Amino acid sequence: MKVFTTTGEVAGHYLKCRCEAPGFVPTMGALHEGHLSLVRSAITKCQMVAVSIFVNPTQFNDPEDLKKYPRTPEEDLSMLSGVMRNDDFVFMPSPEEIYPGPDTRRFDFGTLDKVMEGLHRPGHFNGVAQVVSRLFDIIKPSSAFFGQKDFQQLTIIKELARRSYPGIRIVACPIKREKDGLAMSSRNKRLLPEHRERAGEIYKTLKGVAGMAREKEIDELKSFVSDRISKIPGFRLEYFEVADGGNLTPLNMKSEMADNRRYYACIALFAGEIRLIDNIRISLR
Ligand code: PAF
Repeated sequence: MKVFTTTGEVAGHYLKCRCEAPGFVPTMGALHEGHLSLVRSAITKCQMVAVSIFVNPTQFNDPEDLKKYPRTPEEDLSMLSGVMRNDDFVFMPSPEEIYPGPDTRRFDFGTLDKVMEGLHRPGHFNGVAQVVSRLFDIIKPSSAFFGQKDFQQLTIIKELARRSYPGIRIVACPIKREKDGLAMSSRNKRLLPEHRERAGEIYKTLKGVAGMAREKEIDELKSFVSDRISKIPGFRLEYFEVADGGNLTPLNMKSEMADNRRYYACIALFAGEIRLIDNIRISLR
């Protein structure tokens, strides 16, 4: 496995090894088994794999969140060296390498970035689109692998690729969960022990929603979720929506749904100071 920090080094590597365009796994580091499952999936499908580790400042709407985002570069490299092959590489650029000047680009994804995370984290998806497009320009991958935990991000990146990078296949990978059901996330490292102990309730609540979705109206599902989450000490619900899996429009009534669409129950909450998200596919009829 090689480690590069500059665009020039990546270009030089491509000249030397004459491999096919790589499969790409973009990350912000603080790697866990969920990231490794994306890397393994890329390795099974691609001759060469690139992983980026870059904590992207432009996607943090809260400067404190950016400051406290876990950074564990040595552990990350050691985990990756256990799975990556000789020509595979890790790209760990500096902020100046990614943003030589201020990135003033404004992306508009229509309704996709105006709901759920987009409403609660203004500017977040603009920052994600800025960094992902920069990384796509540098890495020039044939495919890119993203986890379904960040379901809205995945949908927006598919749209970015459809508009601007039609040659890059976006591969959606299933959510990896801890034994108690908590979706794996770099943020889990920051949970207080008492919050971590209770965090399995999030997935149990989503499974509860999936189990009752056929019989209940959307507002009943919402009450069920807000009730359950409010009973967990230290937890605070930010939103719960049942959204169309294609255009992400949140539903108000089951009568708005169509038979040929997929629906997802999406949740965001605070466990103490740590913001967590999760989702589950549900059938409403
Ligand atoms: O999902 C993430 O870790 C980040 O949003 C991404 C896609 C690496 C862009 O910074």
